[in-house]
Amino acid sequence: PYMREVSGVKVLEDRLREKLKLESVIVVPGDSDESEWVKEEMGKACVTYLQSIAGPGQTLAVTGGTTMASVASRMTPSAGMEDWLFVPARGGLGERVEHQANTICVEMAKKAMGNYRLLYVPDPISEESYQNIIEEPSVKDVLGIIRSSDIVIHGLGDALTMANRRKTPDDQLAVIKERQAVGEAFGYYFSQSGEVVHKVRTVGLQLEDLEGDREVIAVAGGSSKADAISSYFQPGKSSVLITDEGAAKELIRDT
Ligand code: F6P
Repeated sequence: PYMREVSGVKVLEDRLREKLKLESVIVVPGDSDESEWVKEEMGKACVTYLQSIAGPGQTLAVTGGTTMASVASRMTPSAGMEDWLFVPARGGLGERVEHQANTICVEMAKKAMGNYRLLYVPDPISEESYQNIIEEPSVKDVLGIIRSSDIVIHGLGDALTMANRRKTPDDQLAVIKERQAVGEAFGYYFSQSGEVVHKVRTVGLQLEDLEGDREVIAVAGGSSKADAISSYFQPGKSSVLITDEGAAKELIRDT
């Protein structure tokens, strides 16, 4: 029975890779909506993947969220990762401290025996302060590192779940609902067809930056995230997806 399960996951990986036109897909057994340990398994799969592509002196940018927190909790030191530099992908997005990119970045760096640089940006931020902050030399320095990072790992969530979790102001929440946002990643909200319908104002990695020559790894699972995953991948912004069986089965259901 174990072999059959493993080969079932392989079939899901192949079908999903084809459907979302990705370089690589990893599916862990289970559904993280139902069992918390499945998220830990995705975290572990992500660490193993990172170790497999590890080279000296790389910079890794990471986002926040509970899935990224489980990647951090599974991080272990590995040859070739000691001199890695960890940075948060974007400034504050309204997450609680333990799920903020800065916090996760420090934990990952420590566990990998690497280094880190952080972004201190108030959140939310006015247009005026935003313009001033990005000109601050210390912020500018870190922003440069972020935008030229070699590897990006990020979470991906359901639009309304994220908007509520972040205590999004009513006027913005109305836009998100009216424009039928389905998925969210990096502070960008996407419609089912993959169009950006709202964007949180913060510093750091912009969606356009993902197009460069770098490895972009999305880690997201749970059957409730299937629509969010497909909305984000409509134009195809990341090359690798690490997910679970729950989301994968839902994603290939109508193909
Ligand atoms: O807020 C950071 C973030 O990575 C979002 O971009 C994403 O939607 C969310 O966290 C995912 O959170 P979780 O892994 O807890 O579902």
